[in-house]
Amino acid sequence: MGIKVKDLISMSDLSVAEMKEILTNAKAMKEILKRDIKKVPTLRGRVIINLFYENSTRTRTSFELAGKYMGADVININVSTSSVAKGESLLDTAKTLDSMGADVVVMRHPASGAHHLLGQAVKARVINAGDGAHEHPTQALLDLYTMLEYKQDLQGRKVAIIGDILHSRVARSNILGLNAFGAQVWVCGPPTLMPARIEDLGVNVTYKMEEALADADVIMMLRIQLERQKKGLFPSIREYAKFYGLNKRKLALAKRDALVMHPGPMNRGVEITAEVAECCQAVIEEQVTNGVAVRMALLYSMGGVKTNVIA
Ligand code: CP
Repeated sequence: MGIKVKDLISMSDLSVAEMKEILTNAKAMKEILKRDIKKVPTLRGRVIINLFYENSTRTRTSFELAGKYMGADVININVSTSSVAKGESLLDTAKTLDSMGADVVVMRHPASGAHHLLGQAVKARVINAGDGAHEHPTQALLDLYTMLEYKQDLQGRKVAIIGDILHSRVARSNILGLNAFGAQVWVCGPPTLMPARIEDLGVNVTYKMEEALADADVIMMLRIQLERQKKGLFPSIREYAKFYGLNKRKLALAKRDALVMHPGPMNRGVEITAEVAECCQAVIEEQVTNGVAVRMALLYSMGGVKTNVIA
């Protein structure tokens, strides 16, 4: 079926059927990751360009691996050593990459809206790898995949997203995805880190971590994004950890088989203790593995299907 829209900028660009198709294909991709030789020719001859204006370990590397495992040529643009450092605009950079025959541009950019601009300017398909505090759709897809691996069905499941909701593109994309799968989403954090009218997205809001955790099926802890905060939005890291950090004692309030998730990178000892991050309920490393499989499935849908590896 593939994805109807040219560019994937928001989870709202995908229908539920398209999300399900990506997640189903990701299962087949995960099988490829278990092979000795992780290589299929599906995207041979395709060019994928990673254009990251912000730091990344997981997303950039997993897109690179996903493209390479599928036979594509993957180019990473290091913005700090590219002509961007000489003042070249985003659009001129994008048009240059387009002229070189890019099929897909995967971009991370600090500005919400940068991907719309890029998508309109280039023939290549654009994938949003994170835009400011707006969205991170491929993170939400891999999170959905991970939850469904363990919980099979998300209908009515209580998913608590806890932490810096205000600056979190992960939270926004996950809310859209989880709503599409019928989950009951709770968001929790200090009032200063809660966006105005967040309840309009169809979520329950609480400032008490205990309420968010009570009988939760999934706990998604978010990183405190100090780099996006211009002024102190909470008194101290120590106080934040006391009220909104996840430790073993608080984890006991959730269901016994509740999953503990974190998109990474983690601030251990702040939003999550090392003990919880390493406990048997944590699926944080699984999220990273699934990120490669899900991005392979997305590139399969968006990069042009040449050989059917799913059969
Ligand atoms: N989860 C996530 O986006 O991680 P990176 O910033 O390392 O890509």
